[in-house]
Amino acid sequence: MAGTRFFGAASRESFLHTVDVSPLGAAGITVVMAMVLAFMLLTAVMVQRLERAAEMERVNEALIDAIPQQIWSGPPDGTLDYCNQRWRSGTGLGLQDLRGDGWQAMLHPEDRDRVLKAWRESVATGTPYEQEERHRGVDGTYRWYLARGIPQRDVEGRIVRWYGTNTDIEARKHAEEELRRLSGQLMRVQEEERRSIARDLHDSTGQHLVLLSAALERLQSSVPPSSAQSRRLFSEAEELAAQALREVRTLSYLLYPPMLDESGLEDAICHYVEGYSKRSGVQVDVQASPDLGRLGRDKEMALFRVVQESLTNVQRHSGSRRAYIRLNRIQNRVILEIRDEGRRTGRNAESRHNVSPGVGIPSMRERVKQIGGQLDVESNSAGTTVRATIVINEETHSGTAHPGR
Ligand SMILES: Nc1ncnc2c1ncn2[C@@H]1O[C@H](COP(=O)(O)OP(=O)(O)O)[C@@H](O)[C@H]1O
Ligand SMILES: [Mg+2]
Repeated sequence: MAGTRFFGAASRESFLHTVDVSPLGAAGITVVMAMVLAFMLLTAVMVQRLERAAEMERVNEALIDAIPQQIWSGPPDGTLDYCNQRWRSGTGLGLQDLRGDGWQAMLHPEDRDRVLKAWRESVATGTPYEQEERHRGVDGTYRWYLARGIPQRDVEGRIVRWYGTNTDIEARKHAEEELRRLSGQLMRVQEEERRSIARDLHDSTGQHLVLLSAALERLQSSVPPSSAQSRRLFSEAEELAAQALREVRTLSYLLYPPMLDESGLEDAICHYVEGYSKRSGVQVDVQASPDLGRLGRDKEMALFRVVQESLTNVQRHSGSRRAYIRLNRIQNRVILEIRDEGRRTGRNAESRHNVSPGVGIPSMRERVKQIGGQLDVESNSAGTTVRATIVINEETHSGTAHPGR
């Protein structure tokens, strides 16, 4: 290794030649310094970038928490590895509690199976997720949320992450419930009103018309045979009274079939169908489970109205000359089906699968919902099927008639 030597009277050149300050020499020092500088510069740039990234992250976090929604995200397998502060504080749980499958613990027990089934299906098929579900909050009560999830894919179409939001829809759910309660009340009031008008028409107006016919008959027989004109007038008046009586009876029956209370849904449908076939020329085949029994006034009334509206639609829209009514009981479910062999008409002629509702279909749907059931309408080239499915409990379901009006 070279040492450092000093010579008192040495020239500058000889000094330079003889003073060996570094084993690298001057060029080496320059290179080292340049490297140090470059390293420092790089470090400064890196630090700046990291600071900027941290700042961006803070801004993103703040933005994500400012959104009035719970936000979550996770890997393609359907587990969760991120949720924003709003969700964490809403549940009173930390990320360590919610991550993985931990979030499932705050689902309402009644929603759990449905939600997990839908989520598993979305994860398996890569289709967006959307469900209304109840989540337990920090105070132990449940609130309704609209949960949505969408997959993010790479260029090859593989899912790389799921991103989702939960939106609080508790107020909307309350409003819907209130609306349903009110519309149920309105329907019950309407049915009561119809019952009372039907009874007045039948028992009062109908009876008066019967008496009027009898009086006209007696008067006619008291007119001498020579007075042909008076006899003809009496005949006409009698015929008008008989026609008015028929109309009043039909109207009374359409407003509220007395048979529904007295002998149940199947008899009321059969009786209604008889008149309907005469009026419309549509042949209707009715088949019902022998063990149908009584379903309770509200359920029987709602299903009867579904038959009425569906048969009206068959006559007005389908062009079918035949219709089939099936009333089946499978364990604790009752399924009512009204099927025709017609074509789609009017505004739905072009649509392939759905009949878009006017007033009748939504009203049927609401009636069936009010009794805890579901209404489906399917339409294709073979015809239209309206299907109402309701659940019955044993208290309302009995073989005996319940109190009539
Ligand atoms: N049985 C049917 N066959 C063909 N089209 C139907 C049938 N029932 C309903 N539709 C179609 O669905 C639409 C909505 O029916 P609905 O809600 O009862 O309203 P509206 O009868 O007052 O038009 C009808 O206008 C009709 O185009
Ligand atoms: Mg209609």
